[in-house]
Amino acid sequence: MQVKSFEEYQQAYSLSVEQPEQFWEGIANNFLWKKKWDKVLDWNFKEPKIKWFEGAKLNITENCLDRHLEKNGDTTAIIWEPNDPTEHHRILTYKQLHTKVCQFANVLKNNGAKKGDRICIYMPMVPELAIAVLACARIGAIHSVVFGGFSAQSIADRIKDAECNIVITADGGLRGTKEVPLKSIIDDALVQCPSIKKVIVLTRTRTPVSMIKGRDVWWEDEVKKVETQGNPDCPAEEMDAEDMLFILYTSGSTGKPKGVVHTCGGYMVYTGYTFSNAFQYQPGEVYFCTADIGWITGHSYIAYGPLTQGATSVMFEGIPTFPNAGRLWDIVEKFKVNILYTAPTAIRSLMSFGDDVVKGRDFSSLKKLGSVGEPINEEAWHWFDEKIGQGKCPIVDTWWQTETGGFMISPIAGVTPTKPGYATLPLPGVQPVLVDENGKVIEGNGVSGNLCIKFPWPGMLRTTYGDHERCRTTYFATYENLYFTGDGCLRDEDGYYRITGRVDDVLNVSGHRIGTAEVENAINMHSTVVESAVIGYPHDIKGQGVYAFVVCPNQHGDPELTRKDIMMTVARIIGAIAKPDKIQFVTGLPKTRSGKIMRRILRKIAEGDISNLGDTSTLLDPAVVEEIKAGAL
Ligand code: PRX
Repeated sequence: MQVKSFEEYQQAYSLSVEQPEQFWEGIANNFLWKKKWDKVLDWNFKEPKIKWFEGAKLNITENCLDRHLEKNGDTTAIIWEPNDPTEHHRILTYKQLHTKVCQFANVLKNNGAKKGDRICIYMPMVPELAIAVLACARIGAIHSVVFGGFSAQSIADRIKDAECNIVITADGGLRGTKEVPLKSIIDDALVQCPSIKKVIVLTRTRTPVSMIKGRDVWWEDEVKKVETQGNPDCPAEEMDAEDMLFILYTSGSTGKPKGVVHTCGGYMVYTGYTFSNAFQYQPGEVYFCTADIGWITGHSYIAYGPLTQGATSVMFEGIPTFPNAGRLWDIVEKFKVNILYTAPTAIRSLMSFGDDVVKGRDFSSLKKLGSVGEPINEEAWHWFDEKIGQGKCPIVDTWWQTETGGFMISPIAGVTPTKPGYATLPLPGVQPVLVDENGKVIEGNGVSGNLCIKFPWPGMLRTTYGDHERCRTTYFATYENLYFTGDGCLRDEDGYYRITGRVDDVLNVSGHRIGTAEVENAINMHSTVVESAVIGYPHDIKGQGVYAFVVCPNQHGDPELTRKDIMMTVARIIGAIAKPDKIQFVTGLPKTRSGKIMRRILRKIAEGDISNLGDTSTLLDPAVVEEIKAGAL
């Protein structure tokens, strides 16, 4: 599946455009199917209807596990590094992982799980998280993983939307010096969720938890039961290629997160292919992706993609700055990591600690580097290249999204010449186009516009859970017959792509997607807030920070306390990751006569660029702008 030279890339790319079905059939033949497809592709972007490998039968876990057992059963699948460096790391071979996934799949069955059920997973970054995900896939249950930083309310919203019947969680999770009381947060969420019949709780921190009779069971007890039943295997459920594999919620420009749906066959082919090709993964290489499985990066490039390729993957429980800013480099040295895949925000944060932390380190194992989640600024790119890659590791800047399932525009390591800040060229099978405001395709090079994709690829989303119309209006209705990414992009003279950031009301804070409307809704829940407007502004480490303009006329006492209360409200409603960095109290928001907030003006003020605010004559009350300018933080 790997192209080995730029000419081979060009050939593969041409084939993928001219004969997409033949191209993808060739790739799909590298995977294990219980039955092959009747038809490679059936699609239209109007409804949208996207079906890949129709009629094929498979189970993705046979590709992630069973397929490797005979020859590579003793190969390490997962190296787990705990939060606390003095605690022992764990190693799971493919054989061991297979056994544990089968055991836990039987636990799920014992607890009433069936094919097609939705199961919510809210866990720390421990091997059991990967095991839980794979066990769901093993029995054909649809997992919905919720990142450990989300609040009880966010979990409840997601559980209700997908009508989950089981939750898999842990007593607590460890991140740096913090202990997150996961089970207790789940208990708060479940007050609103009558659909949940069982909660399976893994022991991690041994924080005291409430265990409700008939509903809550311990992971370890349930595994023991399966062991005593003497039932170590769990045959993989036969799935249609287009059966749902998982739901993952992500933010958009409206208030409510969407459940992006990925299906079994196409997603498997796409994540396996892109992992293998972009990173040029070679057997025996140690690969370390610093993401959390709670996000798409972890789904596609810690769990599924690498496992389909029999790769050895490092999974890290903690954070890059604990116990100190050298932690990632300790892990690279400890496990002789060959491929390191991380985010610009982590790079910028570690850069800020100065060169002492990286000096004298042994980075000789590193061969390839990767970046994901947000545009990487040139300074961070060069630091990553020189200080970490020692100038000898290609940087694979992968542009993609929760909705795309896998890498879309990305260099192929050692094959595609790179350029700082550029995601470079589309991978085979990906047909990007730039369009102007009116949806007119912009041809040629040295241009910029809104980034769309004009042809389906196997890893793309199929729908948004429970609301297909929302999928259509969000992604396929802005421009006819195109998938709209929400990103702005430029294509330079060489045809290289550089993503310039979101063009909709979605923020990218430390590589996490946050909808401004979502944060506004949360702020507006505070008892004294009348209305608010949330804007992103450039932030040295996070990429974007959250700036909230809040109308709050009846607050009493210290405004600093009100600020803190608003922060706490957002943390309660969404989660700590969405807390505003700055809150400015204002008496009114700049609105047009029709009542629309002029975000353009607020954006300029948030960015500190108040000299030229453009035309403010259409504002209902221009005076409000002067006041906001004067109070800018
Ligand atoms: O704006 C783009 C940015 O992250 C968005 C997707 O966010 P999410 O679905 O959470 O997935 C993140 C991990 C794939 C995109 O619309 N983004 C992602 N990767 C890059 C990027 N922006 C620039 N360069 C990238 N490499």
